[in-house]
Amino acid sequence: MLYVANWKMEMSFKEGLGFCRDNYCGFIALSEIEDKRVVLCPSFTEISEVCGIFKNSAIKVGAQDCSDNKVGSYTGQVMAESLREIGCAYCIVGHSERRIHCFESNYLVGQKVLQLLQSGVIPIVCVGETMAEYNAGFVKDVVKEQLIDVFKVIEGFSAYSLCIAYEPVWSVGTGIVPESGYIEQIFDFILELSKKYDKKGQIELLYGGSVDESNAGSIKSISNIRGFLIGGASLDFKKFEKIVQL
Ligand code: PGA
Repeated sequence: MLYVANWKMEMSFKEGLGFCRDNYCGFIALSEIEDKRVVLCPSFTEISEVCGIFKNSAIKVGAQDCSDNKVGSYTGQVMAESLREIGCAYCIVGHSERRIHCFESNYLVGQKVLQLLQSGVIPIVCVGETMAEYNAGFVKDVVKEQLIDVFKVIEGFSAYSLCIAYEPVWSVGTGIVPESGYIEQIFDFILELSKKYDKKGQIELLYGGSVDESNAGSIKSISNIRGFLIGGASLDFKKFEKIVQL
């Protein structure tokens, strides 16, 4: 199982590094549990240092976003290649907070996936419907739309790894978690969509949205789940530890 901690912009540079140092032994212990993989996704500013703190360990580091361009005049953007150079193994793209606040389109998210795969960084593509889309019964249409451009990109790669994190927008940071049967249904749908592109099992399905130590156990029993994308609960080491140990 893969446990991705998305720290968003919840900690400053000093706080993020302090969190890593204070819980260093705990993180190492978690990463050494069989079949558990831990990925920490701090802000861009901390990535290099976090990679340094956890070098020579099984802890992996990820970014929370990257540019959709390879190189050029894109003020404020960060290239996928730089992420790889500083030690990022993963990068979250298409998070609902970026789709909402930065108006990211499905096409743009696909282009980010392209840059990451070209640089050898594993994309964690977030998909999921809003409450209005859920109520209108458009969930599958929305998720399909969000993935079409991603699939077009991966078609061009013979070897790749990719995570798809299903995160209903109405579950992110709200404390509301869908029924396991519902998540399972969406997972089955995503697997059906992706099977043409996933000949070797390179696509891992994650669930994200209000995951905590009280619900992770039951979510974990959903068939085909390969991990979690964890926001709020990843900011409290004890909670994160419990989720990984479950
Ligand atoms: P949450 O966030 O666990 O706080 O709901 C998940 C995410 O945004 O990735």
